[in-house]
Amino acid sequence: MLFEPIKLRNIIIKNRIMMSPMCQYSAQGDGMANDWHFVHYVTRAVGGTGLIILEATDVEARGRITDYDLGIWKDEQIQPLKRIVDECKKYGATIGIQLSHAGRKSEVTDDTPVAPTSMEWNKDYKTPKELSKKEIKDIINKFREAAVRAEKAGFDIIEIHGAHGYLIHEFLSPLSNKRTDEYGGTTENRTRFLREVIQAVKEVWPKDKPIFLRVSADDYIEGGINIDEMVRILSLIKDEGIDVIDVSSGGLLNAKIELYPGYQVKYSERIKKELGFKTASVGLITQPELAEDVLRSGRADIVILGRELLRNPYWPLQAARHLRYDIQWPKQYERAKLK
Ligand SMILES: Cc1cc2nc3c(=O)[nH]c(=O)nc-3n(C[C@H](O)[C@H](O)[C@H](O)COP(=O)(O)O)c2cc1C
Repeated sequence: MLFEPIKLRNIIIKNRIMMSPMCQYSAQGDGMANDWHFVHYVTRAVGGTGLIILEATDVEARGRITDYDLGIWKDEQIQPLKRIVDECKKYGATIGIQLSHAGRKSEVTDDTPVAPTSMEWNKDYKTPKELSKKEIKDIINKFREAAVRAEKAGFDIIEIHGAHGYLIHEFLSPLSNKRTDEYGGTTENRTRFLREVIQAVKEVWPKDKPIFLRVSADDYIEGGINIDEMVRILSLIKDEGIDVIDVSSGGLLNAKIELYPGYQVKYSERIKKELGFKTASVGLITQPELAEDVLRSGRADIVILGRELLRNPYWPLQAARHLRYDIQWPKQYERAKLK
């Protein structure tokens, strides 16, 4: 199963292994991808990863987590991204980009962060400015423009970053969204920003290419989102054409999380079984057997590896051998392929 292809719209991913979006904080203040990003992503393509999702890449400069984030808010940023995309595809990888806005978790030096409500993430962070309705529409438009650029760069997939306490998650959670207009209050109102972002992206993104959505299924704090509430939120966007829900958790506020191998698989399973979405599961999946089990037991359609792929970019090649799948190696490395 781990090395079985999966078809999403017109895109065939050669196996079920996804590289988790992971910020490299290695741009030089201009949001432009450089040689570090090129080597980093291409190495994982050589290593056999089926789907690479580029790190959180910001739709506006004010939405960066740090001054060193990747950006996709201006046309000059397209070409260096395209260079990465083109090279990764040569090794059979499918490649996507995570579109992001950090909201109140932005630590950029020259700007004031924005949020649904003027509440700082913690006392070490700047107090964000509450977004007006006009400013909300402007940000939605920035997601649309970013999707146009992502298409020009040749990406196969867009992942919308709706997790980890960044802007979309800040709208979703009642702990960070205290608005009294149509963007706050009920579950439906808190979901409105997400729905409008999805619709804007969909307007310009080719119909034959998939869209993923990453969510935090649990805030781990009383009064915040729990899995029941996340199921309600996702049921409200069920017909918006999202192809895969990438199920993570946490990040809204500091919370104690019990960590163990596959600790977020249970949330993926619930979303998959109850709502019928295809899902991708992330979080301490490092062993090939666990990855295989999560897929074969029907608890996710894709497994996502983060830190394990930082430690070992050749994990997919080695996992295939371990599980006795015969897969193609890059021809330059074939003499190292152990039978
Ligand atoms: C260095 C680093 C950077 C990260 N950056 C992002 C990011 O840009 N977007 C995101 O959704 N998650 C980000 N995460 C979270 C990972 O994508 C992943 O969900 C988390 O590390 C758990 O998976 P793992 O146990 O396989 O590492 C980051 C994690 C790390 C370690």
